[in-house]
Amino acid sequence: MRLKQNLIWFFEFFTQAKSFKDNPIIGSKTMNRMGLHVFRLVMAHLMTRFRWCLLFWRLDKKYRDAYHAQGFVVIENFLPDVQFEKLNKQLRAVTGGFLQCRQGDTLTQRHIFEDVDASAAATFAQDKRLKGLFRYGGSANHSPLMYIEHIRNGVLKKGEDPQKNLHSDTFHPTVKAWLYLDDVTEANGPLEYVEGSHRLDWKRIKWEYKKSLTAATSEDSYTQRGSFRARDKDLDELGLPQPKPFTVKKNTLVFANTYGFHRRGQANKGSTRMSVYMQDRANPFWGFFALDFKLFQQWRVAYLKNKQKRSEYEAAQHGRTPMWQPVDLTEQKEAA
Ligand SMILES: [Fe+2]
Repeated sequence: MRLKQNLIWFFEFFTQAKSFKDNPIIGSKTMNRMGLHVFRLVMAHLMTRFRWCLLFWRLDKKYRDAYHAQGFVVIENFLPDVQFEKLNKQLRAVTGGFLQCRQGDTLTQRHIFEDVDASAAATFAQDKRLKGLFRYGGSANHSPLMYIEHIRNGVLKKGEDPQKNLHSDTFHPTVKAWLYLDDVTEANGPLEYVEGSHRLDWKRIKWEYKKSLTAATSEDSYTQRGSFRARDKDLDELGLPQPKPFTVKKNTLVFANTYGFHRRGQANKGSTRMSVYMQDRANPFWGFFALDFKLFQQWRVAYLKNKQKRSEYEAAQHGRTPMWQPVDLTEQKEAA
C-alpha cells in the first residue's frame, strides 16, 4: 500500500499535479531548496512553448500576439447579434442540472454545457475562433470544457471569497475564458488581471523558488495546494502593474492564461453575473498535442461527471457536504 502511494506521488511529478500539501515530493522543502519546483516550472514552460510552436496554425497571428504580449485576449461582439440573443435566451431558460460551490460569501453555480439541450449552445461549442483560441492558447489542441455559470456575490454569511485574492492558478500556462451573457461592471465582480504576469522571467523564477520553500506549510490553504497568492509587495518585487478589471459589455469573450495573476473583483452584495465559462488544463510536460476527437471530449465530460459522483459518495461516507452540490435554480429564477 505504502509502495503504491509512493509510486503515485512519484508519477504525479510528471503531471499537472501541483499540491505541496498532498504530495510530499512536490512539497519537500529539501527538494525544493535544491530546485525541484523551479525545475518543474521551467520544464513545463519550455514544453508549452514547444507545443505553441507546433500549433501556431491553429490561431490568427493577431490573437497569438495579443495573448503572448498581455496574457489575455478580449474580443468584443464575439457572436453575431442574432446568434448571441438566441444563446442568451436558451441558456437563461436552463434551471435544472446545476452544481453549486460555496466560497466565502459567493455562490458559483455551473452546468455542464454538453448536457444543455439547446441548439444555440451546440452551435457555440463548435465556433471555430473559440476552438482556435483553446487549441492554441491551451497548447494541447483541446476543445474547452464548457459550463453555464452564474456567480452570485455576497449571498452567503461566510467570510471573504478566496477567489478575490490575487493568485496564479498553477505553475504552468493554463487557460480559462468567459463569454459574458451580462454586462460586467465594477458592481458585479469583474475578472481582474495583472497584464504581463503570465511571463516566466528571471524575477518570477526567483519569486517562485522562495514561495516553494514555504508553500507546504503556508497559512493559506490555496498556496498549500499550489495556487500561489500574490500581494502588492509581490507585484512590486516582480516589477508588475496593479490588476485591471475587465469591465466589458455582454457578448464579449475574455480568454486568459491563468498562470498570470488574476482574481474575482469586489462586488456589491446580491449582484450576479452570468456567462459561459470555459477552461482547459493539460499535462504541461507532454511533448506533443492531442488530436481533438469528439470521443476524447466525451470521455473528458464523462470523467468529470464520474469524479463528481465519487466526491458526493465520499462526502456522504464521511458525513461531509461535497465541494460541489446539486442545485435546482427554478426558485431563484422565479424570485428574480
Ligand atoms: Fe484562478
